[in-house]
Amino acid sequence: MREHLRSDIPLLENTNEKLLFNSGKQLRPMISLLVSRSCGKVNFESIRFAAATEMLHNATLFHDDVADSSSLRRGKPTLSAMVGPTAAVLIGDFWLSRAVRMIVSMPHQSPVIDLYSKTLSDLAEGEMLQMQKASDADTTEEDYLRIIYYKTASLFETACRVAAISVDASPELQDAAGRYAAALGIAFQIRDDIFDYGQGEIGKPVGIDLKERKITLPLIGAMNSASPERQEQIRQMVRQIPEHPEYCDELQQFARSHGGIEYATLRLDDYIEEAVSALALFPDSKEKEVLAELARYNAVRNK
Ligand code: IPE
Ligand code: IPE
Ligand code: MG
Ligand code: MG
Repeated sequence: MREHLRSDIPLLENTNEKLLFNSGKQLRPMISLLVSRSCGKVNFESIRFAAATEMLHNATLFHDDVADSSSLRRGKPTLSAMVGPTAAVLIGDFWLSRAVRMIVSMPHQSPVIDLYSKTLSDLAEGEMLQMQKASDADTTEEDYLRIIYYKTASLFETACRVAAISVDASPELQDAAGRYAAALGIAFQIRDDIFDYGQGEIGKPVGIDLKERKITLPLIGAMNSASPERQEQIRQMVRQIPEHPEYCDELQQFARSHGGIEYATLRLDDYIEEAVSALALFPDSKEKEVLAELARYNAVRNK
């Protein structure tokens, strides 16, 4: 990653150094390399794709913290808080374009560029749909699942599909890798959305989804058991959050006391199950076990 982010511009080079130093969990490259290893032998291309995925993921976070006006990530000030939103957007573009450069000219570039470009448009569409739903406050569970597939699971899916492609895995294994990672990505985002209800030590602010009028699974789950009148009242409160920021606490309380967290946790378990079953086609190996463990880890992780 460092090698592919080189620039002659000192401001960019110095900022990149800080960003690389404060890396995240690197979950996407971890699972993509595990997929490559369980379907074949990791090669230069597998490593390139894993690094490109992590760079792309980071680029989306730089942009996301501008979009969400968020000041804390990985326990430290966000890039946007450090250099301002304009520079953060440009640095995000830089990481994204260098990630693309890493995958062109690779032996499997044709299907791989196709997959990454689909994911890039999914990311933008997911954010736009989320924005539209935030102003209408009419998010259903189906809308929610579509948003999180686009904004999170699509990149997981692509990361694992290209990992299988890099080692010339069979089309069946490529599909299985994609199904595993898409379900894992959904589970991962559901867990992240539960964190936003104040469960976990995650190094980023909690409660910001509601501030941004985002209706996520804990609130949807709690609304499921409420009367249609109460549901409409809740949605009305979400619409009025900009004028009544105090509603956020009340809505959080409603979600927590009406089984919203439990509901989201059950759905999370369903997706973990789906991810683990998708691995059935994989030949037995240590790597396959770790992939299953990583899926199950979403049920218990606290960061
Ligand atoms: C954060 O992803 C964005 C979501 C999809 C919830 P990660 O939790 O993987 O972020 P880092 O890279 O480890 O900080
Ligand atoms: C995460 O979005 C997915 C991205 C495309 C970056 P969120 O806004 O839900 O993620 P966090 O909670 O800020 O990490
Ligand atoms: Mg966001
Ligand atoms: Mg965010």
